[in-house]
Amino acid sequence: MPGSSRPVYFATSNRGKIQEARIVLSPYGIEAVPFDGKGVEIQAETVSEVAAFSARAASRIYDRPLIVEDAGLFVEALGGFPGPSSSYVYKTLGIRGVLALLEGARSRRARFRSAVAFCEPTGEPRVFEGEVTGRISKSASGENGFGFDPVFIPSGGRRSMGALTLEEKCAISHRGESMRKFASWYTGPEAGQRF
Ligand code: IMP
Repeated sequence: MPGSSRPVYFATSNRGKIQEARIVLSPYGIEAVPFDGKGVEIQAETVSEVAAFSARAASRIYDRPLIVEDAGLFVEALGGFPGPSSSYVYKTLGIRGVLALLEGARSRRARFRSAVAFCEPTGEPRVFEGEVTGRISKSASGENGFGFDPVFIPSGGRRSMGALTLEEKCAISHRGESMRKFASWYTGPEAGQRF
């Protein structure tokens, strides 16, 4: 319906995620309303577990239906590291540290995974997953995106995710996929009547 949009609270303070969520959700008529309330995070092996836990906790604390998104970079030669610890590793080792760990590695294959969890204050979370495969480049390039984007080259491409426009990134990215799955459900018959 032109002119009408259905809001959804998005608990995050990450500007990159907010911009990407808006690009992906607006064609579905969903307006991502950011607020800084991700709050509780757990250590877990999968981004889905982290997102589900955070969404469940935040929906109860803030007493509203909302989404939380958790994502991570999984590098094959490093046994999936940094995975769900990507945020901490980005802040500590940084891109240079991860490139140093891969010096001499036989494989540079990697993937990003994303999980969007939706939860209502009295309900249980629903999780939507996305993934993009690729490889880690030998040096950083590109000015767009955030986090490890400058060193991640999606499969079948030559440019890093940091060299893509946000629209190009969202068309192929882990977050694009998980957000589109969420949007289809949120605007579909099952959820459509409730929100
Ligand atoms: P979290 O989902 O907020 O826990 O963040 C995970 C970390 O993974 C971020 O701080 C980034 O370093 C990295 N990351 C997650 N998604 C992306 C992405 O789309 N591009 C680049 N890095 C990402």
